[in-house]
Amino acid sequence: MFISNANVTERKDLGHNIVLLKLFSPEIASRINPGEFLNIKVSENSFPLLRRPFSVCDVEDESIYIMFHIAGEGTRLIASKQIGGALDIIGPLGKGFNFDDDFETAVFIAGGIGAAPFPYLKKKLNGKRIRSFIGGRSKESIIEYGFENIQIATDDGSRGFHGNVVQLFKNEYPNIQNEKIKLFACGPTPMLKAIQEFALEQNINCEISTECAMACGFGICQGCPIESTKNENQYSLVCKDGPVFNAKDVVLK
Ligand SMILES: Cc1cc2nc3c(=O)[nH]c(=O)nc-3n(C[C@H](O)[C@H](O)[C@H](O)COP(=O)(O)OP(=O)(O)OC[C@H]3O[C@@H](n4cnc5c(N)ncnc54)[C@H](O)[C@@H]3O)c2cc1C
Ligand code: FES
Repeated sequence: MFISNANVTERKDLGHNIVLLKLFSPEIASRINPGEFLNIKVSENSFPLLRRPFSVCDVEDESIYIMFHIAGEGTRLIASKQIGGALDIIGPLGKGFNFDDDFETAVFIAGGIGAAPFPYLKKKLNGKRIRSFIGGRSKESIIEYGFENIQIATDDGSRGFHGNVVQLFKNEYPNIQNEKIKLFACGPTPMLKAIQEFALEQNINCEISTECAMACGFGICQGCPIESTKNENQYSLVCKDGPVFNAKDVVLK
């Protein structure tokens, strides 16, 4: 784990309050894996006090990318950084996706800004077949950046399948179930819960990238518990044992 004063070297506004930043941090770029995250100090003074967590979106040479939705004050401050500015980041943090197991097709299921970790995961899956299912409330909230072989679902029917992304995946599942698939999902908790239920029911290998409010980001404050199925009354920590978990290992609420 490193603390890095990372310069912003590229900034892209992807529209609809989504921003992509490229940060120069050779120490973190050379060590971070898909699904792991960074904890970013958002201001020079003490407000907001807590760092904000962001998945690594991509890595290129000695730089890392983050992609984020401007949700409140912290993300607004990060979004205000211009090229040449610097951010205080801690990383790599957490446990990311495991892609060493035996599968032929990686199925990405992303809801809204849950699209963020997939460009780097895709890069690391070099050679595997990829199918991407992307969902959002409306066509404005669909993020296609870094995906391939895409199918889209919108809650309001403004683009693609009219319904949620898990329904779309369930409809398509009979066509791809013989491909030896592994699911990788990231998005809002209700979406993760629905995909977890289906994966367990159908016995599909599935990993989910979970989200919760965090403070320290590395296992000290005990502020990010998630119920574990491994032992009764046991909890895992999202920041240290996750954020990526096998779907069978945690209980989503
Ligand atoms: C491991 C991890 C990885 C993440 N990766 C990304 C990413 O790649 N891109 C991205 O845009 N966001 C990501 N998030 C969520 C991001 O950290 C929050 O959106 C951010 O902290 C909000 O800060 P803020 O000060 O702008 O908003 P706040 O003022 O703190 O909150 C604004 C709104 O966002 C909601 N919110 C705050 N934190 C979270 C959270 N952790 N999960 C869900 N809702 C939240 C609040 O309930 C509130 O409604 C990630 C969260 C975790 C735990
Ligand atoms: S955020 Fe402190 S233990 Fe997880």
